Amino acid sequence: MSRAYNFSAGPATLPLEVLQQVQADLVDYKGTGMSVMEMSHRGKDYDAIHNEAIANFKELCGLGDDYEVLFVQGGASLQFAMIPMNFLGAGQTADYANEGTWSGKALKEAKIVAALRGATVNTVANCAKDIPTRMPHDDEWKFSADAAYTHICTNETISGAQLKKIPAVNGVLIADMSSDILGIDRDFTKFDMFYAGAQKNLGPSGMAVVAMKKSLAEKGAANIPTMLQYRTFTENKSLYNTPPTFAIYVFGEVMKWVKKMGKANLFALNDAKAKKIYDVIDSTEFYRGTALPEFRSNMNVTFRLPSEELEAKFVADAKALGMSSLKGHRSVGGIRATIYNAFPMAGVDALVDFMKDFEKKNG
Ligand SMILES: Cc1ncc(COP(=O)(O)O)c(C=O)c1O
Repeated sequence: MSRAYNFSAGPATLPLEVLQQVQADLVDYKGTGMSVMEMSHRGKDYDAIHNEAIANFKELCGLGDDYEVLFVQGGASLQFAMIPMNFLGAGQTADYANEGTWSGKALKEAKIVAALRGATVNTVANCAKDIPTRMPHDDEWKFSADAAYTHICTNETISGAQLKKIPAVNGVLIADMSSDILGIDRDFTKFDMFYAGAQKNLGPSGMAVVAMKKSLAEKGAANIPTMLQYRTFTENKSLYNTPPTFAIYVFGEVMKWVKKMGKANLFALNDAKAKKIYDVIDSTEFYRGTALPEFRSNMNVTFRLPSEELEAKFVADAKALGMSSLKGHRSVGGIRATIYNAFPMAGVDALVDFMKDFEKKNG
């Protein structure tokens, strides 16, 4: 068996132990005589998988009974649309931070809904196009007095900028945590709702994991199609229709793994992994970090080389050594090393050695 060091930003590296458990369970899950893929989503075997996955995620996030955890297909991108469809009514204002590509996409969807409904979207901070890339500084947030909700993204996967301090808002706070959920210490109870495309720190692609206060779901619009209403998910435990059962099962296995590793250990390991790469970047003029140091992500490390030709050679040479997907997002270029929870320290060590060697040969 040969496993690549896979620096992809998503779908991303999963814990090897989880993949092996999934392999062991694949054709006969715990003596049931069938794969999880083949089980009824109404049966007791699947029900146990579903409930345990939710319970472990809630425990890891420190959420009480006032929160529900939902599995919604359509990825984080459908959340961009569902949020305003549920919570932005006629005449209301929603506050959106524009911090980069992903929060910009969320903002765009909100504007579509606002135009249909006669509502307003207020940009509370705008640093999406700034180079070096960054998140808003404390004094840049310009919240409206009576927003229906405020939407932020905690980690911009493409730019490699991460919010270290969550701004205080008066009302409902909603966050896209797709690329740093359970990868950095956060007080999740500060958020009325947070969500993540599962394919980064949580499991395979195919769904968003959404946590929200029950009281918020109850306030959502009721005059939109059933599958777009959050209450359909909260009232039916995400089992109104057939959920992505296999993705939920693998998510559950990843949650067991996070519990076993220990959250605090993982956070420290993530910071240590990121620091090793940033230290190489800071030790030379050859590499240039893309994000302002105070906003550097511990999940997506972005940097540039002196030329695009050298960047292409860097990506190709690394690939030949078993390090894949180091090319920055197609919209921005450069290099991006994604090192989510399951990415091993040995892969970071291999990258760091390669970076030093590449500079010697090409600097
Ligand atoms: C921060 C962030 N938000 C949203 C998305 C979109 O996620 P999905 O592909 O699940 O719709 C991504 C995908 O990379 C992301 O990184």
